Amino acid sequence: MNAHTSGPRALVVYESMFGNTERIARAVSDGLRDSGFEVTCTDVRDTELGVPVGADLLVVGAPTHAFSLSRPRTRADALRQGAAADHAEVGLREWLWQSRPDPSLNAPLAAVFDTRVSRVRRLPGAARKAARLARHRGFEPVGAPGAFLVEGTPGPLNAGETVRATHWAESIARTCLERRGLAPARTEDDART
Ligand SMILES: Cc1cc2nc3c(=O)[nH]c(=O)nc-3n(C[C@H](O)[C@H](O)[C@H](O)COP(=O)(O)O)c2cc1C
Repeated sequence: MNAHTSGPRALVVYESMFGNTERIARAVSDGLRDSGFEVTCTDVRDTELGVPVGADLLVVGAPTHAFSLSRPRTRADALRQGAAADHAEVGLREWLWQSRPDPSLNAPLAAVFDTRVSRVRRLPGAARKAARLARHRGFEPVGAPGAFLVEGTPGPLNAGETVRATHWAESIARTCLERRGLAPARTEDDART
């Protein structure tokens, strides 16, 4: 892939108890990179609470727990169902509560996605709550929320969901670039021509 010399930046923050949302977040990051964004993709546990988000686009993704974002109680439940113990401390709900856009940003944008069990896919998911919190914290939602399907609580992802996630991210990237009046990153190859 070409090395980017400049361009719009995206921060992808995900929560994942069994690794499925992480796989989607990585596929989303690929789609954003292919659309010209410089992307930082990070587990919510490794992201400091309360640090202003300076990226042009924030993307957040979380597993659906009890039709919404996880809470300490539901994360404890996930541990009982086999998730790794160090995944229970902080979730996207807590992170979003303390998030805020960098004040220098004009119209900071946020896109949201969740993972959910295919059998109940039409019921409310985590992304709806994430969008509400992001708006409350000063981000403007961009694009339709993404919903990516798993076969059961520990996964696996349904076939084709990572490809669908990359396409979803490409569409979010296009909308974001239009809304912010940004151009995709120029690459070193572009710069030479
Ligand atoms: C406590 C708990 C509650 C859940 N509630 C729901 C739910 O309401 N709707 C749903 O579709 N999936 C529900 N799930 C399944 C999760 O969405 C699934 O485990 C998740 O998408 C897997 O992603 P992860 O590997 O990133 O954690 C629940 C899972 C747990 C552990």
